[in-house]
Amino acid sequence: MEPLVFVIFGASGDLAKRKLLPSLFQAHKAGNLPQNFAILGVSRTSFSDESFRAKAFTDNLHIKKEDASQEQIRSFARMLYYQAIDTSKKEDYVKVKDKLSKLDELHQTKCNYIFYLSTPPWLYEIIPPYLAHFGLNDRTTGSKRLVIEKPFGYDLTSAKDLNGKLQQHFEEDQIFRIDHYLGKETVQNLLVTRFANGIFEPLWNRNFIDHIEITAAESIGVGNRGGYYDHSGALRDMFQNHLLMVMAQIAMEPPTSGNAKSIRAETVKLFESIRPITEEEVSKYVVRGQYLASTINGELLKGYREEEGVPEHSKTETYLAVKFFIDNWRWAGVPFYVRTGKRLPTKVTEITVSFKAPPHTLFRNQKEIFQSQNKMIIRIQPDEGLLLNFGMKVPGDGFRVKNVNMDFHYSDLANQYIPDAYERLILDCIKGDATLYARGESVEAAWAFVDPILNAWKNDPEQKLFGYPAGTWGPDNSDMLFDTWPFSWHDPCPALTKEHNFCEL
Ligand code: BG6
Repeated sequence: MEPLVFVIFGASGDLAKRKLLPSLFQAHKAGNLPQNFAILGVSRTSFSDESFRAKAFTDNLHIKKEDASQEQIRSFARMLYYQAIDTSKKEDYVKVKDKLSKLDELHQTKCNYIFYLSTPPWLYEIIPPYLAHFGLNDRTTGSKRLVIEKPFGYDLTSAKDLNGKLQQHFEEDQIFRIDHYLGKETVQNLLVTRFANGIFEPLWNRNFIDHIEITAAESIGVGNRGGYYDHSGALRDMFQNHLLMVMAQIAMEPPTSGNAKSIRAETVKLFESIRPITEEEVSKYVVRGQYLASTINGELLKGYREEEGVPEHSKTETYLAVKFFIDNWRWAGVPFYVRTGKRLPTKVTEITVSFKAPPHTLFRNQKEIFQSQNKMIIRIQPDEGLLLNFGMKVPGDGFRVKNVNMDFHYSDLANQYIPDAYERLILDCIKGDATLYARGESVEAAWAFVDPILNAWKNDPEQKLFGYPAGTWGPDNSDMLFDTWPFSWHDPCPALTKEHNFCEL
């Protein structure tokens, strides 16, 4: 691997502490970092190299040091450096440049840099031009990559604007837009399940698949992120990025090869084939909700509007369900249902592929098989795995049929270390592999689909927002998106209580 300095802008922030530094330490322990490597933290707070090491590493409880050797701990700490600057002042970037030159000398890192912007998004338009002003985008001296976190814009116009601004200073192949869902092992496994097996791909189309559901449920509320979340909502926070990306893995055409270029090209093509939902159609295809206070097991859970940083009359959605179609040869007429929400009964992300029922029903007296559809359930998290549900004969007389499961759990791959999503993606970026990063065009195509929904909510006072008690599966109205049997979502945990009270806000 090429020598490199990994520069973290916003190094004193939460993401660096919770995800970036712990992932880099894990990669160091596993011996996966380049031999010549340094990490430079940059932010406004004033630290020396030593005090940054103590704050970001030694005292950081998110970094698991218990199972590391003293040498691993010491050698990682020795890679950490810090430079304080006022990120909004152009002249301060010379300090970053000088510090990088020193690190190049100390670690022989040959002017290869990754700039990871773990900062508020408004700085995405400021940091890249200032880096460029000091030649820190110049790939003739060494590789230069820029990593940014979502949100990649706020709507289609701002996303195009952001892409345009970034591309003024960095080439598209230098820009790595991170989506941590694509770093999840089970999401990557979607492509392998589909394209490395002879049995699934022939069935993966409108002839055999009835409909596909994606559920991404969270039991937590917005916590102390109310200020951020209220300007975002479930559509921007989860659907426009993570869930459309997951959908792309399920629905894309076979790429011409397994490389970044072909896979990303198929993603763009797929997003461009999603049938647009017009502003007038939003109430037919989209249901939004907001959680209300409720008591679960004696514990009072706040409603969204009572959360810190959330305005009293907020209309921001914490729940979203969308039905849509993909207008291409493979998926013509197959509905896709995607739902996500906060304060649902559990934390689970899963994909349910429902196959069409057999053309002729032999076992008519058996209601169960008469109505049953084979299902493939891909659990992204937790208990990562894949379950196939099908009918089998109950032993004994007659032909009683019962649905049974064939269940694979990732945890059965004993002793196989599964890297965290961030660790995986950071390592890919260090290697210069952009396969699991979003391309500018696909981000724009995803916004183009989402924009009319945002516009309808903004412009049409008739658009409804439903309340749902915290701890339930969201507004019942989302079942109405299904107009054919089974008329409701696959329930990831039928054992959990289902309440039915909901109201319109
Ligand atoms: C983040 C969202 O991108 O993803 C959060 O901003 C959400 O609101 C989180 O909680 C979910 O990620 P995961 O990996 O916990 O499913």
